[in-house]
Amino acid sequence: MSGNPTAGLRERAIAVLRANDRGGYTVPAAGLYPFQWNWDSCLVALGWACFDEARAWREIETLFAAQWPDGMVPHIVFHRDDPGYFPGPGVWATGREPASSGITQPPVAASCVRWMLERARDRTTALAAARRLFPKLLAWHAWFHSARDPEGRGFVVTVHPWETGMDNSPAWDAPLAAVAPPPDLAPYERRDLAHVDAAQRPTRAEYDRYMTLVQLFRELAYDSAEMVARSPFLVVDPATNAILLRADRDLAALAEILGERAALPRIRAWIARAETALPPLLADPGSGLWQAFDLRAGRRLGVRTHAGFLAFLAGLGETRLAATLDRWADATRYALSSVPAGDPAFDRRRYWRGPVWPVANFLIGRGTGESGHVRLAARLRRDTAALVARGGFREYFDPLDGTGLGGSGFGWTAAVWLAWVDQPERDRGSDEAPDPLK
Ligand code: GLC
Repeated sequence: MSGNPTAGLRERAIAVLRANDRGGYTVPAAGLYPFQWNWDSCLVALGWACFDEARAWREIETLFAAQWPDGMVPHIVFHRDDPGYFPGPGVWATGREPASSGITQPPVAASCVRWMLERARDRTTALAAARRLFPKLLAWHAWFHSARDPEGRGFVVTVHPWETGMDNSPAWDAPLAAVAPPPDLAPYERRDLAHVDAAQRPTRAEYDRYMTLVQLFRELAYDSAEMVARSPFLVVDPATNAILLRADRDLAALAEILGERAALPRIRAWIARAETALPPLLADPGSGLWQAFDLRAGRRLGVRTHAGFLAFLAGLGETRLAATLDRWADATRYALSSVPAGDPAFDRRRYWRGPVWPVANFLIGRGTGESGHVRLAARLRRDTAALVARGGFREYFDPLDGTGLGGSGFGWTAAVWLAWVDQPERDRGSDEAPDPLK
């Protein structure tokens, strides 16, 4: 890509991953996020795989070394403590080794493992790693489909906004408002505001509720059944469910490749159940956009966020959803805003309430491209390229003027550059399809 504003970005992206490498795991961003985060790590591995495959496999294996005996894979692994972050291992107090949080995150791991295996240049190392990981991936998915879908209804539930990876999404406003901080909520001091402007982060009221849920789960000793039974926050998150369905499909593909056929009937049953349950529960009839469902209030929340476009990644994006995406992208200079411009909840610089997230563009771009909407995929890739070329490997960006926001030297932004933005052919479901933007 020499001779254009993106020249040199590949080397800079590699330098970001190297700088964030803590030996076997990669921190999302030095300072702001000093530990191993679940879905960051899996996506960052895709970046590592572009220049150091062995290191990429190690990233995922390090994450799964922290898997709980019941199959859950925690959202943060605290390999070593760091006073610059709150809430750290002492607050979670899960009693695990290595220390970890007690909730999970969207399960992108199986999809990442499949992509890495299929593209591996060192096939022997890749096959060996995938073989070691397969039973762990299967156990994590089995945990989701049992602990988080105890009645076998075909969708999994989420007990904390942090589990969705989209912490302060406006989708969580109503269910979070129903979480009442107790009078004995332990006093705490946020550390994120030492790194990032408060206007770009969640509010104090949101943090009080995040911590209320953590305190409750700690009191429940992180017993999955109790958490689901007692959490005042209980939602069906479109992102988690779309990502899990996609990951189940990838797990089935892995089972075929690795000769793990005994697992197939079970995985196929999960897929069939989700395919039946998710569209009627989540899809907005007018736009086709998947929207979160509040199980405590018994209603679809009607809040529009970019998470709803992950239906494409799950293979269930309808034609009208592509038209919705087109209009949404047209409303800002840079696509895709996390909340549509003009929506009352739209806040152009506040985290998951408006900014563009390269990592979301990547997942939506993969889904749309594979669903045949190549032009939309190319558009998301092109805008991501423009944002990063302009503002560097930031955590998120202002969709109206492209200003880089949140953390800098961000791992998954660098990985998305390496594994997708820099690889236009990956927009496409089929390698024969021409890229209309070229
Ligand atoms: C924030 C994001 C989450 C991410 C983490 C580390 O909590 O909301 O999705 O995994 O930061 O980057």
